[in-house]
Amino acid sequence: MRFIVVEDYESLSRKAAEFIGQEIISNPSMVLGLATGSTPLGTYRHLVEDAKSGKLDFSRVTTFNLDEYIGLPPSHEQSYSSFMWRHLFSEISIDPARVHLPLGLFEDAEAACAQYEKLIEQAGGIDLQLLGIGNNGHIGFNEPDDKLGARTHIVRLTEDTIQANARFFEKESEVPREAITMGVGTIMQAKKILLLASGWSKAKAIQQTIHGEVDTEVPSTVLQMHRDVTIIADFEAASLLDLSEVYICLKEYQPPRE
Ligand code: F6R
Repeated sequence: MRFIVVEDYESLSRKAAEFIGQEIISNPSMVLGLATGSTPLGTYRHLVEDAKSGKLDFSRVTTFNLDEYIGLPPSHEQSYSSFMWRHLFSEISIDPARVHLPLGLFEDAEAACAQYEKLIEQAGGIDLQLLGIGNNGHIGFNEPDDKLGARTHIVRLTEDTIQANARFFEKESEVPREAITMGVGTIMQAKKILLLASGWSKAKAIQQTIHGEVDTEVPSTVLQMHRDVTIIADFEAASLLDLSEVYICLKEYQPPRE
């Protein structure tokens, strides 16, 4: 695991966009896994700026999002599909045929999950997966449990996650109770992973991700077993790490070029 601690959310966003940008420049037809939530918003803003200024070309990039709420049509304001179009896709020149999100409306859940896995496989797998992290250590919507789903599957959201996501809805009762998410195995198969964490509420999860025992009750700890993970955290999210660790991490880390 590589660990970069930056001063604040803005530096995190800039650094994450640079990281993703470098990957796109070195492989313009890459397969990029994306996340929703508050954390990547600044990163998407910088990616949009870089695309508009001609620094980045998304025309051959293929994307796969981690997850979607069950029961919301893509057109729903709070669907992850709407979120992605609002904050990224409609602002960059990307081929809509190369944009993928799991569908939150389907007749056959198993077939919908299998289809999403098949699409990822047909695209050649994910080159770089962007992740946020839940306060409880969830990645995608893989919630703490005594076992984790390996492949794309349907999950019941925990109360913690429902409360955390209620800020996007008028009432907590409107937050969907279920989601479709890539599994931990799907995420772990990505060639590279970039995890972003900002704010005090993520400090415990980041501490466990880096120093904790690998435990399905903190799903992000499985990332310790991936060979190419970079974490970018701001000071607040890194605040519970060992001081010695933070000191080492403060030395600027440059990801190796391919
Ligand atoms: C979203 C996702 C979630 C979020 C996590 C953190 O696609 O997969 O795991 O990354 O809930 O959300 P924020 O960034 O809103 O704190």
